Amino acid sequence: MKDYRLDFPLLKRKYNNQPLVYFDNAATAPKPQAVIAAVNDYYHLHNANVHRGPNFLSEEATLLYEGARKKVADFIGADKEEIIFTAGTTAGLNLLARAWGENNLKAGDIVALSRAEHHANIVPWLQLKEKLGIVLEYIDVKSDGAFDELSLDKIFDQPRLRVLSITQASNVLGQFYDLKSILARAQARGVLTIVDAAQSIAHRPLDVRSFDCDFLVFSGHKLFAPAGLGVLYGRRDLLDKLPPFLGGGGMISEVKEQSFSPLADSLKLEAGTPNIEGAIALGAACDYLREISWPAIIEREEVLVDYFFKKLETCDFVRLLGGRSGRLPLFALDLQGFHPHDAADLLGEQGIVTRAGHHCAQPLHDALEVSSSLRASLSFYNTTAEIDIFFRTLQSIKKSFSF
Ligand SMILES: Cc1ncc(COP(=O)(O)O)c(C=O)c1O
Repeated sequence: MKDYRLDFPLLKRKYNNQPLVYFDNAATAPKPQAVIAAVNDYYHLHNANVHRGPNFLSEEATLLYEGARKKVADFIGADKEEIIFTAGTTAGLNLLARAWGENNLKAGDIVALSRAEHHANIVPWLQLKEKLGIVLEYIDVKSDGAFDELSLDKIFDQPRLRVLSITQASNVLGQFYDLKSILARAQARGVLTIVDAAQSIAHRPLDVRSFDCDFLVFSGHKLFAPAGLGVLYGRRDLLDKLPPFLGGGGMISEVKEQSFSPLADSLKLEAGTPNIEGAIALGAACDYLREISWPAIIEREEVLVDYFFKKLETCDFVRLLGGRSGRLPLFALDLQGFHPHDAADLLGEQGIVTRAGHHCAQPLHDALEVSSSLRASLSFYNTTAEIDIFFRTLQSIKKSFSF
């Protein structure tokens, strides 16, 4: 079996003389050498602004940047014209709340979210609630992580429902949601659909044409590319109608002292100098994953999930949040007898990187009646041996708290 850990320079480092066990992929993924090389090449060979000028460096940079857009489009089954580069998932959702929401929603209109949302898909809508008086409704999540059908029905019964903005995978419950039927239901009622693919994008193949989503967002850094670069996918007809959100260079066709006209294409949504190296690197990350292949990634992750469950049974002081089926290799743990922050600190002393807290999902933690949890989030390159190290260390931390 190929050891994919070797592709990631970060994983060669040690901490306190221990090998690094990186179980914080949901926060940000490490970067494989192929992605680092793409950034390096851009600085060493091109380093120019895009769409700017008739010099060979800028022409090369533009070709690489637009080539990356095509790679990303192919990666999610979209057309190149439907891909907007943003600063990340948060930036994409804010763009939609402002550019679409402010222009299409009125007081009393309902935006439906699930209780499993990250703050990035809550706060922009709360800001719109303060500004416009829209109403937020939440789909309940059951203890097994699935959406509650009754609460879904109730929300779909509301005549003022205008937007469904929903995550494809929970960054706490690890649940992957098959959104097909819920999105189809929304579309049939003329409700705008937005998918937050921040957590699902690195674990499952995505084909935006296979379900009824109008917009979809994700971040490059969770897909093995640099931070500060994300993607907003939008259906072409909807992007055409979306007014520019930020104004400046790169998005205009003409500027006069008292007026301007934006570009007709989707570049109108990419004002200013974009994160060129980030986009090129994201293209390289898509190539890297395509080469490994989705069946291989899923197979490895399923082995990790099963093994994690098995080891979990040996720890009676740990309660897993969420259910077992349809789970990505992401586990939030409620610990008895010690605090998740202490656990994360002490695991860190042994070179094991996890995360503790509410993981920017406070409403979900409130609903689960836990204030914080310890999250271990794995990826295809992790190993069962690393899971052994994690549980062995967790057991000895528990013992040290038992005296
Ligand atoms: C489900 C989900 N949505 C949105 C975000 C926000 O992503 P970013 O901070 O890259 O904008 C995250 C980050 O953890 C997430 O897990």
